[in-house]
Amino acid sequence: MKKIRIETSRPYDAVIGENVLENAGTYMRESGISAQKAFIVSDDTVLSLYGLKVKKALESAGYKAYTLAFEHGEKHKTLATAEKILSTLCAAEITRGDVLVALGGGVAGDVCGFCAAIYLRGVPFVQIPTTLLAAVDSSVGGKTGVDLPQGKNLVGAFHQPSLVLCDTDVLRDLPSPLYAEGMAEVVKYGMIRDEAFFYKLAAREVSVEDIVLTSVKIKADIVKNDEFDRGERMLLNFGHTFGHAVEKASGFTLSHGESVAIGMCIAADYAEKTGVCAGVLKPLAEVLSSYGLPTENPFEKAELFNAMTGDKKRFGDDINLILPAKIGRAEIVKTPLEIFRERFFAL
Ligand code: GLY
Repeated sequence: MKKIRIETSRPYDAVIGENVLENAGTYMRESGISAQKAFIVSDDTVLSLYGLKVKKALESAGYKAYTLAFEHGEKHKTLATAEKILSTLCAAEITRGDVLVALGGGVAGDVCGFCAAIYLRGVPFVQIPTTLLAAVDSSVGGKTGVDLPQGKNLVGAFHQPSLVLCDTDVLRDLPSPLYAEGMAEVVKYGMIRDEAFFYKLAAREVSVEDIVLTSVKIKADIVKNDEFDRGERMLLNFGHTFGHAVEKASGFTLSHGESVAIGMCIAADYAEKTGVCAGVLKPLAEVLSSYGLPTENPFEKAELFNAMTGDKKRFGDDINLILPAKIGRAEIVKTPLEIFRERFFAL
């Protein structure tokens, strides 16, 4: 078992290793979570797989444990789901001295974290990610929120968890498409920060533990410098501005990870053709394909452009593009929208 300290305005640990689920209550007590009640929020699929195990682990550490499951899937990451959770918290008389536990993938983490941010103006919560994507990205760093019909993550709050518990046994058991989805974010870390890690991934020389540890360390380092996403943290959006457009254009039939994989390739192609870098797209596409991820954009540029320019990362008449300078380093390139349009359509 390894621990990584996440240095934010309210520092906490990410615990990564085997048998973490069955010891979740002990880790929570050790980290100083002295609550009486622990309220587990999950989706129906994850709750049926791991709910009982986690509930027992919390009860054996002296917590009175409750569970609530919402229907799985991004389409349930809504204000309506949050409202149901909030009402159930009221009914169970959860107070600020209690703790919520987000058990699941990115949707459970985001929606439970959002409820923790706003219920009674803020209660503590623990993240227990059960997908690779949630383990390496969404469970760390305190971004919480829900979607609106107009777009993803349009409502939310920064609210750091008190603890992240990542069980690598759970990640090893993931079905391959779910694992591949997380690998898109993992490759992203290599691309933006760590050339050696990128080539280890390409050579398949990294264990699941090392994949999570290295990714979380990179994310922790970036979040420490820019918790509230005003500068450096935008690097984590590499592949995401294009990727969100791809995801939307696919009518959400492509997963987030698949869309980010395509988005990173579009960004690399754009960067190469506009002279920001050279020789990046080929190794990037090769490593993504080797993990079963798509690399070709099947959509019209106009469709992507329209989706992108409605993206929340756009500031005024400029768009913040995250472009690779080389393997292992990315840059934030603020570009006037008109110039971006010209260059993007010329690709
Ligand atoms: N998922 C990107 C971030 O946490 O900033």
